[in-house]
Amino acid sequence: MDVDWLISDEGRAVIAALRGVDPLRAREVVPDLSAQRVAEALTQAQHRPADFPLTLVTIDGIQQATPPAVAARRAQRLAESGVRTIVDAGCGIGVDSWAFAKAGLHVIAYEVDPVTAAVARANLPEVVDVRHGDATTAELPADAALYVDPARRLQHRDAQGRPIRVHDPQRWSPPWSWVLGQAHDRPVVARIRPGHRDLPENIEWHCSSIGRSLVDATAWFPPLAAVPRRASVFQNDGWHEVAGSPESAGIGEAGAYIVDPDPAIVRSGLVGNVAHLVGGRLLDPRLAFITCDDHPPQWVGRSMRVVEQTSIKGIAASCRRLGIDSATLWARGFDTLPRTGVRHGQRAIVVAARIGDPRRSVAWVGHSA
Ligand SMILES: C[S@@+](CC[C@H](N)C(=O)[O-])C[C@H]1O[C@@H](n2cnc3c(N)ncnc32)[C@H](O)[C@@H]1O
Repeated sequence: MDVDWLISDEGRAVIAALRGVDPLRAREVVPDLSAQRVAEALTQAQHRPADFPLTLVTIDGIQQATPPAVAARRAQRLAESGVRTIVDAGCGIGVDSWAFAKAGLHVIAYEVDPVTAAVARANLPEVVDVRHGDATTAELPADAALYVDPARRLQHRDAQGRPIRVHDPQRWSPPWSWVLGQAHDRPVVARIRPGHRDLPENIEWHCSSIGRSLVDATAWFPPLAAVPRRASVFQNDGWHEVAGSPESAGIGEAGAYIVDPDPAIVRSGLVGNVAHLVGGRLLDPRLAFITCDDHPPQWVGRSMRVVEQTSIKGIAASCRRLGIDSATLWARGFDTLPRTGVRHGQRAIVVAARIGDPRRSVAWVGHSA
């Protein structure tokens, strides 16, 4: 990959000219360029999001990158915690390093892959000390905190060109045992797979979502850990947060609203805390459905205003009576999704859940709140 050419005036102009162009027509747009340069410029034109803060991407790099809004928030918190120097052990194309530098931290970024390191260097000129090399064998400054977002995929792809995910944390790169070892010596924040279980007791487990999509999970080791669990939810108006130890909530009948909590809240284990926050309770201790009587804030999840309670068999009749010809189903606790007898659509919401002891199936018909 000719990084110098891609960031030159000509390279930037070609990338701009190829944005939105059918790849099969790319050679026609820039007929005098070599096939190699057209392909490299096309990758940028196709894969770099318009609002991306960095100049260059690689396909693997953008797929693994932290969403910039999440990286910025994390960096801000690190700066406010008193961290001054941070090592980014596996910086990829550099989103987290960019955010650390923007928050005023001194950043030393290691990247083992030579092409990715060259891209990171082009993306972070002057502001970050990008070093091509293996962070696990480098001598790291004693006073530096460590940020690590391990590669959780193999270097090569499968026969269909898809990334091959690595589930064993010891085979992540850097491996998880190295991360745990570093945490004895320095403050560490590690970006991890949301389902990762091999975590020490004293860490802070932090999940973040954007637009109801879980986009980030991190372990904050002591002394950076502030609470056992934290969930951050990004909505149009900014970040919202709930943090603390997981609390259990009361169980009760459905009230005026049913909330399907945001995935960051569910994955951080803070559903009970949010039930308290909205003055509500759970429909069942095993299911992440909150119910409450006052309109819940939008950020806690998608909510429905209950119109009537029914049985699974009664859903179709309820909808007919209420003049509802299509509905979206939110179901929990079933082995297979129940049949509602109502066309899928946006006119209304049907919540179906297996609740109680012994379990019984209950449904509620209502509207988006
Ligand atoms: C998940 S990506 C990092 C993405 C980055 N946080 C971002 O937001 O752009 C992990 C990167 O670590 C690099 N890497 C893996 N093992 C490494 C090691 N031992 N030393 C340095 N870099 C490493 C990989 O090549 C890959 O680019």
